[in-house]
Amino acid sequence: MEKGCADQYPKVCQNLKNYDIFHKIMVLKIPIFDGFQNKKTIRTMKVTVVGAGAVGASCAEYIAIKDFTSEVVLLDIKEGYAEGKAMDLMQTASLNGFDTKITGTTNDYSKTAGSDIAVITSGIPRKPGMTREELIGINAGIVKTVAENLLKHSPNTIIIVVSNPMDTMTYLVHKATDLPKHRIIGMGGALDSARFKYRLAEALEAPISDIDGMVIGGHSDKGMVPLIAHATRNSIKVAEFLDEEKMDWVVQETKVGGATLTKLLGTSAWYAPGAAVSSLVQAIACDQKKMFPCSTYLEGEYGLQDICIGVPVILGKNGIEKVVEIELSDAEKAKLTESAQGVSNTNGLLEV
Ligand code: LAC
Repeated sequence: MEKGCADQYPKVCQNLKNYDIFHKIMVLKIPIFDGFQNKKTIRTMKVTVVGAGAVGASCAEYIAIKDFTSEVVLLDIKEGYAEGKAMDLMQTASLNGFDTKITGTTNDYSKTAGSDIAVITSGIPRKPGMTREELIGINAGIVKTVAENLLKHSPNTIIIVVSNPMDTMTYLVHKATDLPKHRIIGMGGALDSARFKYRLAEALEAPISDIDGMVIGGHSDKGMVPLIAHATRNSIKVAEFLDEEKMDWVVQETKVGGATLTKLLGTSAWYAPGAAVSSLVQAIACDQKKMFPCSTYLEGEYGLQDICIGVPVILGKNGIEKVVEIELSDAEKAKLTESAQGVSNTNGLLEV
């Protein structure tokens, strides 16, 4: 939600129709044509989500609810599962007010043909006590096959990788396909940054809309680099309000954000991952030129070579339109280099 929107609600929400239009224009930033036929402008855009488990279904749900794209295809290998999730989600359409058409398919990639964006969530999620890196053995084969199948039917698609260990799976897609690097995006930093902002808001006892911050580096418990020195509350650095101990707490809680949830839930989280993916998809679909930390193939940026790791990028209709190189302190550079070493070690386990 944009800053300042929330306090305008009571004035504007005089009836449901006003609320709906206001919400779409102001909050979701969807261009609206509310003429006599009450038509909305949603893009003729097809998004495929592979894996209809909790994360995949949550991606589809948030994409649909934000109502910026015409079609979402859910694909899963489990017989009838994606069809069931799609049907259940479609039965929320009249309640949640979206027109996105969601369909499901059991492993029939021809149904994904012509996708503009494809999200890979397939593979097994981690269980309590596991690291993301431990999933590599099973997930590498799955992700490679999924990417190849997707590209057979959608050669122009942009791929967003969510499966773990995400940076290594993004690197694998890079190595296993001949897609240009701007069309392969790893989703981790957007999620980690959302968790960072959540913890910052807690520590500051502030509303989350006051907070800005970013996490770069590998999407792993050890590899994340929350940029606490750059984090702000309404443009004022958080160090003005928090002591060292509190800042260390925020950094630590952010880094184990996924693990904390895995312990509580017994499996990997899904709401925030789904919401984070939907934000990336929207930035591409609506050519927003928004900045997110994403895992991308680096060729010298930040002094790193032949690796996919989280750094700030601009997302627009072409996928990654720019890698943004910001000035890091020596300590931050050292953490990013150490994180990259960890990702490289995991990449070394791949057979590509
Ligand atoms: C998490 C998974 C998506 O951090 O890696 O929740």
